[in-house]
Amino acid sequence: MITALDHIAIAVPDFNAAIERFMTDFGLSFDGTDDVLAAQTKTAFFSLPPTHIELVHPLKGSGPIAKYLEKRGGGIHHLCFRSDNIDADVERLRAKGYEFLSDEPSPGAHGARVIFIHPKSCDGVLIEISQPGDDQA
Ligand code: CO
Repeated sequence: MITALDHIAIAVPDFNAAIERFMTDFGLSFDGTDDVLAAQTKTAFFSLPPTHIELVHPLKGSGPIAKYLEKRGGGIHHLCFRSDNIDADVERLRAKGYEFLSDEPSPGAHGARVIFIHPKSCDGVLIEISQPGDDQA
C-alpha cells in the first residue's frame, strides 16, 4: 500500500551549489548524501516534514541523470511514493497495465528497495516507489 509522499527529487547540474542553496538559502535540514551505485546517482536529502527533498546528480558523469541533464538541464525529476509492501504494489500495478523501468525493485538510497514506474504510464511523470530499509522503518 502507498502510505506517503516520501520525497520530491530534483536533478541538479551543480551538486554542491544545490546543497548549499537548500541548506543555507532555504534553511532546510540537511540529512546527508548517499551514492546509489545501482542508479549511478549521487543523492542529497533534506527533511521537509512530512516529506523530503532529494537532489540527484550523476555519480561519475554518466548514467540516467547525466542524460536527463544533457537533454533538459536541471528540473523536477521524480516523485517518490513510500510503500509498506513494494512487491504487492508492483504486482497490483502491473496487473493494471503499468510499465516499470526494471523487472524488480533494486537498492536505493539509505537501504530502501525502489522501483520506477515508466513515465508513459503516468502522464509523463516519473514515479518511484520505495520501501524503506529496516534501518529506517
Ligand atoms: Co528518489
